[in-house]
Formats: sequence, C-alpha cells, structure tokens
Amino acid sequence: MKASEVGFSRNEAGHATLGGTSLSELISTADVGTPAYFYDLSAMKKRVKKMRSAFGNAPHLIAYAIKANSAGSIVRAITEAGAGIDAVSGGELQLARKLNVAPRKIVLSGVAKRDEEIELAIGEDILALQAESVEELQRIRQIAKKLNKIARVSLRINPSVQIDSHAHIATGHDAAKFGIAKSDLPEAYDFLKREQSSLRLVGLSTHVGSMLKSPDAYIKSAKVVCDAARLVRSQGRPLEYVDFGGGFGIDYGDDPAEPPQNFAQAAVQLLREQELGDLTLVVEPGRSLVGSYGVLVASVLQSKKSGNRRWVMIDAGMNDLLRPALYQATHRIEPLGATPGELVHRVVGPVCESTDDFGEHALGEIPEQVVIRDAGAYAFTMASEYNGRPLPAEVFVADGKVQHVNPSPGIKAWLQHRLRA
Ligand code: LLP
Repeated sequence: MKASEVGFSRNEAGHATLGGTSLSELISTADVGTPAYFYDLSAMKKRVKKMRSAFGNAPHLIAYAIKANSAGSIVRAITEAGAGIDAVSGGELQLARKLNVAPRKIVLSGVAKRDEEIELAIGEDILALQAESVEELQRIRQIAKKLNKIARVSLRINPSVQIDSHAHIATGHDAAKFGIAKSDLPEAYDFLKREQSSLRLVGLSTHVGSMLKSPDAYIKSAKVVCDAARLVRSQGRPLEYVDFGGGFGIDYGDDPAEPPQNFAQAAVQLLREQELGDLTLVVEPGRSLVGSYGVLVASVLQSKKSGNRRWVMIDAGMNDLLRPALYQATHRIEPLGATPGELVHRVVGPVCESTDDFGEHALGEIPEQVVIRDAGAYAFTMASEYNGRPLPAEVFVADGKVQHVNPSPGIKAWLQHRLRA
C-alpha cells in the first residue's frame, strides 16, 4: 500500500510523514505554528471509495456523520467521493448545502431539534428528518402544516441493544435518551397514518453507538429495523430506505477494529436475507472515514522530573483534543523527527485541569515536537478556547502537498471577542 493511502507513516530516516511527505516539510510549507492539525484528504477519499465498493450494486447512501470533522475541505473531499451527509444541527445542514451536497443525500438526526432546524430541513426537502419521539413527530407535523408542505420523516428506533464500548458513546440501550422505544412504535405508525397530509414516512433508522469493533451488535440492531420495515410494508405503506447508523471503530493502536467494508457487506447481506434488498441502505459513518487520517502536531514546552516520574508538557491541551479527558481515550504520541524510543514520559497539556493528561508514551529522548495520532475525528470539532487558548490551525494535504491552510484565529481574536463580552 502506498504511504498516501494510510495517512500517517514514517520515512526511511524515521521522520513522521503524512500522505507520504515529511510532517516537518508540511509544517514549513504551511507556515503554521503549533498546535496544528494536519489531514490527509487523499486517504479520506480513498476510504470512502473503498467503502462504496463494498456495497456492490446494492442501492446505498453513505451519509457521513459530519460532526466527526466538519472542515469544508474534508466535507468536500468526502462528498466528491460520493458520500452524503448525516447532520445533527441546522448549522451542519447549512454547511452541507453550502458545500453543494444534494438535499436528497442529507439526513437530519438529533434528539432535540429547534423549530428553525425543522423548518430548514422541510424547506430544503432533504432525504428525511429522523424523528426520535412521537412528540417530535407532532412538532414536525405542526411546522409542515404551517409551511403547507409534506415533511419527509424517518423513525429512529432505539433497538435496546447493548454494545461493548465506552458508556459515553453507547446510544442504543434502554436508558439512552436516543430514539423511539420499540413499544412506542405502534403509536408512531398510527400518528403517521392519520397525518399523511403533512408527514410522509420514508425511512426507518437506528444508531447503537460508536467504536464498534465487529458487525455483531450492528447487525443485531439492524434486524430490529428490518422487522419494523417488514411490518410497515405489510400495512401497504411504501418505504424508501433503512438506515443502520454509523459507529464503525478504528484502531487507536491498542485494539484493532474490522474495516467499515465488513459492516457494509454484512448489512447488504442482511437486507437481502430479509427480502428488503430493494430498499436504499443508508449508513452513517463518521470516525471510520476520517479518524486515522489526521494528526495533531504539538511542540514540547517543558519537561520535568519529579521523584521518579518524567513529565513532558506540550503546547496542545484538552481544549484542542478532548477525547482523553472525556472518554479516557488513548492517542499514540510519538516524536516528530525520530522513531519512538524506550524511555517513557507522561505527556500532559498546559490547561489547568488534572484531566489535561494524554497518558504515558515511549518518546525516548525528549523531542522538540510530537505527533498525536488518529486525531482526524471528534478532535477539532470538539475543541474549545478554554484557558484563553485560541483554536488550533488546520492544514489540508492532498497527494502529499499542502492544499489549504486554515490558520488559528490567534490570541488577538480571542482577546477581542472576550473584551466584547
Ligand atoms: N449517527 C449518529 C446518529 C450518531 O450519533 C453518530 C455519532 C454517528 C452516526 C457516527 O458515529 P461514528 O461512525 O463516528 O462512530 N465524540 C465521541 C464519539 C461520539 C459519537 C456521537 N455520535 C468520540 O470522540 O469517541
């Protein structure tokens, strides 16, 4: 496999590379300071194409969960490769439309949608608003009536399936706030039947959570959707699609996950077995399309020994990459200019919080700069300005070359908007 297909790698001299080009060279071409995110757009595009080919001739839509990384350059690369969008807010929906994603390739998910967001989705005539309760259907109906339109809706089912993942990213169990419980579906169907002049049921959906390592739980929840789809059809109501959600895991270095193609193939097979193969199969991957193809580069500000502990303080913190603090996630941290050594250091950020801690890493000699790996998903999108720290820069690499730079807004901008407050 060529280096450009894998995002992060190392060249013969041991220097960290992205898309086959040394990160030091990319940093100097982009002319950015640290911390800075670097993304390999070519690798992301390839990932989408590979996933698309796993569907064979089955009608499908890969609705990229844009919350994973909403950078315009990334959304453009992914949608140019054929994907649509799963949005969870009016902001994400507008972004997708401004990037010319066709309305019928967009779904709007989310457990609490504002009236304006519902209006926008109906007005844009997107593939569907994925409703998460009977009460929400009532609101959608009200708004559709006011607009004198028929809203295209899908029901997001809570399949009551437990997954083996961090509790904070499991969404398909009984106690989760997400989706319509199976026992409430008859009420939803009745309501939809009564309100056909304002609501059209076009799909049935689910999403059980994130970081699935194999298709087992995915298929278990998909079966619940298939049962519902067969029932709806037996009542003579046409459906356009079923949506089994996203959640395909990636390898953060300690625990491999099956590739997204395996999930797609298992889903296609299930639909055929269930005699639903004519329906469009929607999937909503986020992390698996972008996570492995981004890195966060940081500089070492300070090191210290205290007792027998060795600390390395870097200029990226939990405000730039929240995952370790929020989910005890581990991201591999390595020297930029040399292969990892033996000596282990505890790597921490500058934020005044004990959870601003990236864990222990074998850095060897203390490097000037480090690479935090697998930072393409749920990284920049979850960043904040906590502790008076401006958002980091972003650099987009295509075919091994810097294609675009989004500089950090900088400290001046931060000062201005805080002084304005
Ligand atoms: N569809 C829905 C309705 C979702 O809520 C999500 C993610 C996805 C699709 C995409 O899931 P993915 O394929 O990326 O796993 N911030 C956490 C992950 C939260 C996921 C939220 N929902 C993390 O950094 O691990």
